[in-house]
Amino acid sequence: MDRAKDSRTLRTLIPEAELERRVAELAAQIDADYPADADLVLIGVLKGGVFFCTDLAKRLKTPLCIDFFQTSSYGSGKTAGEIRIKRDIELAIRGRDVLLVEDIVDTGWTLRTILDLFRFRGARSVKLCALLDKHEARETEVPIDYCGFKIGREFVVGYGLDFDERYRNLPYIAVVED
Ligand code: IMP
Ligand code: MG
Repeated sequence: MDRAKDSRTLRTLIPEAELERRVAELAAQIDADYPADADLVLIGVLKGGVFFCTDLAKRLKTPLCIDFFQTSSYGSGKTAGEIRIKRDIELAIRGRDVLLVEDIVDTGWTLRTILDLFRFRGARSVKLCALLDKHEARETEVPIDYCGFKIGREFVVGYGLDFDERYRNLPYIAVVED
């Protein structure tokens, strides 16, 4: 184990209780918005969106199905709009109400691509629920229907978000200080 990587300084940005409170609020808002005949498909974006997606799903009263989708950028850098599908959803979404659940919207390229793809596949509605909105970093417009928290440009980890695959299991959101 590389212990040096575990000794980074983390500063709590959003404590666990605050996350729980906000997730419950978002679930109530989503339940209120979707009509009785909605055919809701919650699609969590792997891996970062998994913790948020399952917590949200447990709070929702609207009947739903769950699926997962995974993307990655081409190469190591962030090339505008070049997003690769690593794992596609299993469920058919034509005529259904898709709610994408993502950890964070940064430049916006990932979500822009996924939202367009699900619309192209004929979903009846496609909405986005993102826990964090790094709005200052946006390069392409992505409307967030349900947003947990707006944050600055700082790099955050925890509650699904990683730094080099670490810290995803923190029950709170923290800023990596160094
Ligand atoms: P976008 O395409 O630039 O919006 O990229 C969004 C993706 O980048 C997210 O799904 C995260 O996986 C990752 N990301 C962006 N900002 C952070 C951060 O502060 N911490 C961890 N991952 C991040
Ligand atoms: Mg992600």
